[in-house]
Amino acid sequence: MKLTNLVTAGAVLAASFTASLAQANEFRLGLITPPNHIWTKGAESFGAALSDATGGAHSVTVFPARQLGNEAQMLQQLQTGALDMAFMTVAEVSNRAPDFGAFYAPYLANDIAHASRILATDTATAMLDQLPAKTGVVGIGYGMAGLRQILARGDVKSAADLAGLKLRITPFDPILDFYNAIGAAPTPMPLPAVYDALANGQVDAIDMDAELIWKLKYYEHSDTILQSNHMMFPMVGLVSARVWKDLSDEDRAAIDTHMKAALAAIITEYVEKDVAWLDQVKGTGENYVEVGPEFFGDALGKWDAIWSAKSSQLGALRDAAAAVK
Ligand code: BEZ
Repeated sequence: MKLTNLVTAGAVLAASFTASLAQANEFRLGLITPPNHIWTKGAESFGAALSDATGGAHSVTVFPARQLGNEAQMLQQLQTGALDMAFMTVAEVSNRAPDFGAFYAPYLANDIAHASRILATDTATAMLDQLPAKTGVVGIGYGMAGLRQILARGDVKSAADLAGLKLRITPFDPILDFYNAIGAAPTPMPLPAVYDALANGQVDAIDMDAELIWKLKYYEHSDTILQSNHMMFPMVGLVSARVWKDLSDEDRAAIDTHMKAALAAIITEYVEKDVAWLDQVKGTGENYVEVGPEFFGDALGKWDAIWSAKSSQLGALRDAAAAVK
């Protein structure tokens, strides 16, 4: 190659390298779940896939276990652009966008597979459209954890036995209203505080999913395991709207594709494992009681009365759920 050609080729190479550097991003993704939790692993797979797909131009550093703060704080950071991405409970989102409270309608989902189909409906997907305006974030898609169960210290034979119990809940309104309707004393508490609170008797009962009941051995500190399957527990993959607006179409498409894939894999894992975790808990020989909607009596009607006023999507989501039964 002649010297002039060599210089030109070098200049082109340098220019394209600079251009790719200008678009390179080191994204930060926060979550509240511990490092070995399915959501955290899913976030890491998303980061690896995005990095692969962009030839290493984009990377994602995952901050689990509330390293960046609780979900309310992370949502604020997303709004200002201080945080790029999060995998967050829909519970937290519903504190700002009450329409999302509809997902917590007791027994909206018949089982875990039905929960996954509800999240895939057009109605559920369309709800994400309101997030940029209401919360300053872009909702890429849904993930989830397992259905909710109840563990209590002491015997529970009817919902009346839950009355007055200090019962740990994830801090958000739809579940608060559910346990208030039962007559329990719902006690909002973030996930990392739950183990000690149950073990040392600071709470009498907890609302929890099968995965964590099994893996964190919550069942060892309770006398009754109520398999109630009373609520689904969706999660949502979010990108800061401020960060999103500065991304190229190509980068947006790559994030969309790989985050959606990671979220779908999370859902698949819960569908495959939720019942098996419960079976393992059952197999421990602990006092295991299976109940359905009738156990909660008029609490379900009371919840409905509150949330049909608070969420404009409750009717539409019920119709969507019925259509994918
Ligand atoms: C909870 O608050 O119970 C919870 C939060 C995130 C993932 C799973 C459970």
